[in-house]
Amino acid sequence: MSEIDNQKLRSQQWFGKEGKDGFIYRSWIKNQGYPAHQFKGKPVIGICNTWSEVTPCNGHFRELAQFVKNGVYEAGGFPLEFPVMSLGETIIRPTAMLYRNLAAMTVEESIRGNPFDAIVLLTGCDKTTPSLVMGAASVDLPTIVLSGGPMLNGKFRGKDLGSGTDVWKFDAEVKRGNMTLEEFEEAEACMSRSIGHCNTMGTASTMATMVEALGLTLPGVSAIPAADSRKKMNAHMTGMRAVEMVKENLTISKVLTKGAFENAIKVNSAVGGSTNFILHLLAIAKRVGIDLNLEDFDTLGSRIPLLVNLMPSGKYLMEDYYYAGGLQVVIKELAEHLNKTPISVNGKNIVENSAKARNWNQDVIRPISDPLIAEAGIAVVKGNLCTDGAVIKVSASTPELLVHTGRAVVFETIEDYHARIDDPELDIDESCIMVLKNVGPKGYPGMPEVGNMALPKKVLEKGILDMIRISDGRMSGTAYGTVFLHASPESALGSPLALVQNGDLISCDVPSRKIELLVSDEELAQRKANWKPLDLGYKRGYAKLYIEHVNQAHEGADLDFLEGGSGNIVNRESH
Ligand code: FES
Repeated sequence: MSEIDNQKLRSQQWFGKEGKDGFIYRSWIKNQGYPAHQFKGKPVIGICNTWSEVTPCNGHFRELAQFVKNGVYEAGGFPLEFPVMSLGETIIRPTAMLYRNLAAMTVEESIRGNPFDAIVLLTGCDKTTPSLVMGAASVDLPTIVLSGGPMLNGKFRGKDLGSGTDVWKFDAEVKRGNMTLEEFEEAEACMSRSIGHCNTMGTASTMATMVEALGLTLPGVSAIPAADSRKKMNAHMTGMRAVEMVKENLTISKVLTKGAFENAIKVNSAVGGSTNFILHLLAIAKRVGIDLNLEDFDTLGSRIPLLVNLMPSGKYLMEDYYYAGGLQVVIKELAEHLNKTPISVNGKNIVENSAKARNWNQDVIRPISDPLIAEAGIAVVKGNLCTDGAVIKVSASTPELLVHTGRAVVFETIEDYHARIDDPELDIDESCIMVLKNVGPKGYPGMPEVGNMALPKKVLEKGILDMIRISDGRMSGTAYGTVFLHASPESALGSPLALVQNGDLISCDVPSRKIELLVSDEELAQRKANWKPLDLGYKRGYAKLYIEHVNQAHEGADLDFLEGGSGNIVNRESH
């Protein structure tokens, strides 16, 4: 509709009512000092805020929300900010992923139950992006995302520091005796020296890229550093656009089409995005009924070249990427591979939106004619070890290890790994394959980021920095190495991964997309007969609900009863 019919606004089912119900809805809002004309007959824009002091990456979101509000007011709307469960990746135990679906539930029900006509999602730290998009997708109002932006480059002794990536490097250097503990501690403040999320192409940057590639943000938002004033300007413009989206009834399901998901997969390959992207995109697709499966990530993405030279796959950081032109340059370079049908929140396709982009540093963002790696996306491998698949980030792997057969060194749990990995008696060398069990969705529970197990000290001391690792867990988007992740079905279900024993041979062949446990079916059947599940001791509460209902990794690890949506209509009054 070109003009808002104010009486038909969803919010008027609350604020426009007569009698006792209308009195209650309006009166209590007025206690915050809002005069009636603010919320009667104007689009009400909900600002879904993940601010929290225990989500440090989103610590600047109160200020950012104010700029969104300014934009909403300027466009003639009325903003109402509300909190939802926020997840701080580096803080929350046992893993933020355990709570992604719970956070999505708080988002979904907070939106559905309240008088909003459109929603602005403030996202930043890893899980705060998928949880908000998943929740909003199940309600289907006009929805626009504002990602909070990365930290400035870390600086330490004249060098740039990348969030996470350099932690793994320094940890290895301490173990090898090349760095003191004092230097290690000094680097802490140097790494995280401004507001914002991780400054590598880790999961937060990947998620910010994902929402822009899906068309859920204004063009160019994802790379702007949190500390840059243009982030605030974008917050203002996002607020203005949310009001316009109400007029156009541009609901999130009109943006999240199959073509948009395909574009996001291709863009993720070009930026060298995190493997966590797979789980989150699968879960979002299921919320809007889009048929997307694990193989699509390989089919659509694995032949796309890597264009972005950012840690952990490359050498630069998000600040450099923004100054080079950011995601708009990447989309322009990839244009011939992208679907031009899907519309983004501004009504145009992401390729149209990128038409004026210019590349200011071709070492940071390579032209498609000269990529960093010709085929760099995520590979999906299958075999008797993981019949529903496992994934590997080829751009972060050692090329020589992509085809390798080695002897398994098995860790039954993460505690078993910690207890034995640096034991001088552990029978392991660099040709072995490290196998970690019981770190899948049900097994940990919550599928933690432990798949990039640190190498044994005695291997590191030889100067060797990579070995093949296999698990049903995840790894941080800031991590690197030849790491097979998300093995499905997970070992906690008694899958073949649960049956691997020390000394078994495992054959990995990424170009052929195969991973095989070289043990006979008869032997595996015998081992299965003797297999017993671990008792994790979760007898109540959310963890129990999660373990009972979480889907496997190849399905997105959402709770089975949260797939799909329930719309935005709630007929019964609150009194
Ligand atoms: Fe929040 Fe990395 S810890 S984005």
